[in-house]
Amino acid sequence: MKVITYAIAKGGTGKTILTANTAVALANKGKKVLLVDSDVGSRSLSHIFNIDGGEGIKIEKTNIENLDILSIKKTIVEAIKLDINHIKNIYSLDYDYVFIDAPATSSGVETYLSLGVSHYFIITLDYTTLGPSLQGAINTLVIGKNYLESEPIGFVINKSDFISENIIRDISKILNLKNLAIIKKSHIVEQSYSNKILAYYEDKGFKQEIDKIVNELEKLKDKGEKKFISLVEKLRSGVIS
Ligand SMILES: Nc1ncnc2c1ncn2[C@@H]1O[C@H](COP(=O)(O)OP(=O)(O)O)[C@@H](O)[C@H]1O
Ligand SMILES: [Mg+2]
Repeated sequence: MKVITYAIAKGGTGKTILTANTAVALANKGKKVLLVDSDVGSRSLSHIFNIDGGEGIKIEKTNIENLDILSIKKTIVEAIKLDINHIKNIYSLDYDYVFIDAPATSSGVETYLSLGVSHYFIITLDYTTLGPSLQGAINTLVIGKNYLESEPIGFVINKSDFISENIIRDISKILNLKNLAIIKKSHIVEQSYSNKILAYYEDKGFKQEIDKIVNELEKLKDKGEKKFISLVEKLRSGVIS
């Protein structure tokens, strides 16, 4: 199993949409995929897949083969604080990939906890707000990699128009990561929520970039359970609170 998060301590960069479409791409390849929607505020993932979440914590099938969704009606902070087993159980489930989608709160804590349970993360930059995106990315990288033992595998630039090779090289140097994909601003992607669209099926350019990310994910090693005790201790210690 590989537990993966599109991460950045900044809202609106495209994490949820990229999560949904990457999961769809992998499910189409026959991989068993679980999406964890812990964005209690907007439930964007559940919305795209037409899942209402129901009561409690349960796994539901989407209408795409091999793709299920776990809609936790709690923030990931609450889920971990209240009952660590809800999250811990994920590692014993029979999935090839698990994607955790959490909101980016102003403190960043939801992002950091998602990283605490993830094996790998992908930095998700919004090119239209590059400065704040880079700041959020640096915070996320420092804490995710050095403190929460999640491995950054690269960065994605989302909502780009024209972007020069030099800029990509500079961002790569700043973050010390490789570029996985460059995703253009697109009306089809923009209307994902209002029209319940999976852009992977509708936008060729978008599909191409998602497939590049999927190729990288397929090269990663499967991993086992992460040490939860240390995550809870970190939560309690107040460094992340
Ligand atoms: N490539 C894109 N082109 C145009 N709009 C986009 C693109 N990616 C995301 N958006 C828009 O940006 C907003 C935030 O996307 P979302 O995936 O919800 O971000 P996050 O989960 O990081 O908060 C959405 O309203 C979406 O329509
Ligand atoms: Mg989101």
